Amino acid sequence: MERSLAAQFKAEPPSLHATGAVCGGLHWAALEWLEQTVQPGWATLETGAGLSTLVLAARGADHETVTPSQDEADRIRSEADRRGISLDHVRFRIGSSHEELPRWEPRSLDLVLLDGAHGFPYPILDWWFLAPHLKTNGYLLLDDAYMSAVARLVEYLRSRPAWRVEGTVGYRTVIVRKLTDELPPFDSLGEEGVGRVSFAYLPPHKRAVAWVRHRVFSTRPGLAIVRGVRKHAPFLFR
Ligand SMILES: C[S@@+](CC[C@H](N)C(=O)[O-])C[C@H]1O[C@@H](n2cnc3c(N)ncnc32)[C@H](O)[C@@H]1O
Repeated sequence: MERSLAAQFKAEPPSLHATGAVCGGLHWAALEWLEQTVQPGWATLETGAGLSTLVLAARGADHETVTPSQDEADRIRSEADRRGISLDHVRFRIGSSHEELPRWEPRSLDLVLLDGAHGFPYPILDWWFLAPHLKTNGYLLLDDAYMSAVARLVEYLRSRPAWRVEGTVGYRTVIVRKLTDELPPFDSLGEEGVGRVSFAYLPPHKRAVAWVRHRVFSTRPGLAIVRGVRKHAPFLFR
């Protein structure tokens, strides 16, 4: 029986990233998931390139990959040649995603894999540029979800009805489905899962006062209490 591409990579990992680069490929389980899920002709885009690019190419996806490294693209091409994987439907966009995605010609995508720059705010920027172009029910894969910027994004998506965090594959890749289009709320009451309200920027003696004032005047329960008091004891507000 022929082994899956993921199993082949696991047994004999090809070297696609420059020596010394801090970059492993997608986890085998996530590569296997891609291999089993992606259908020929799916419109896909990833930030970061590597093993995932080869798997998506082998699945027959109509794929774009954004990487700042021409060397990486060349290595991927040689590896694809060696393995007889066609790259006819793969486009390399050489550049950093924060510069490439704003000038990307949008198209509807079945799957987006974010695995490029992981420092804040790049995963969030990648999501911002691509989310509107992901189809309803399309897949968003977030790799290295233990890293803080990715973790914040996962928590945000978990809090929004427009997205469903379906689970994880391997120990670091989170699978999310887009349920509908949504512009994120413009205002924040600290309910979006991206961290609580914080007054840590104030000197310690001002924090407690600011916190109480906030609880009373800026949160829904606090405002409900103020409305109740205003109604039943209006003299307190004269
Ligand atoms: C973890 S590796 C990608 C792994 C790939 N998904 C795989 O399965 O092998 C990270 C990738 O992000 C790329 N990268 C780093 N900074 C980037 C940036 N600013 N924009 C896009 N890609 C970036 C690296 O060149 C590398 O291809």
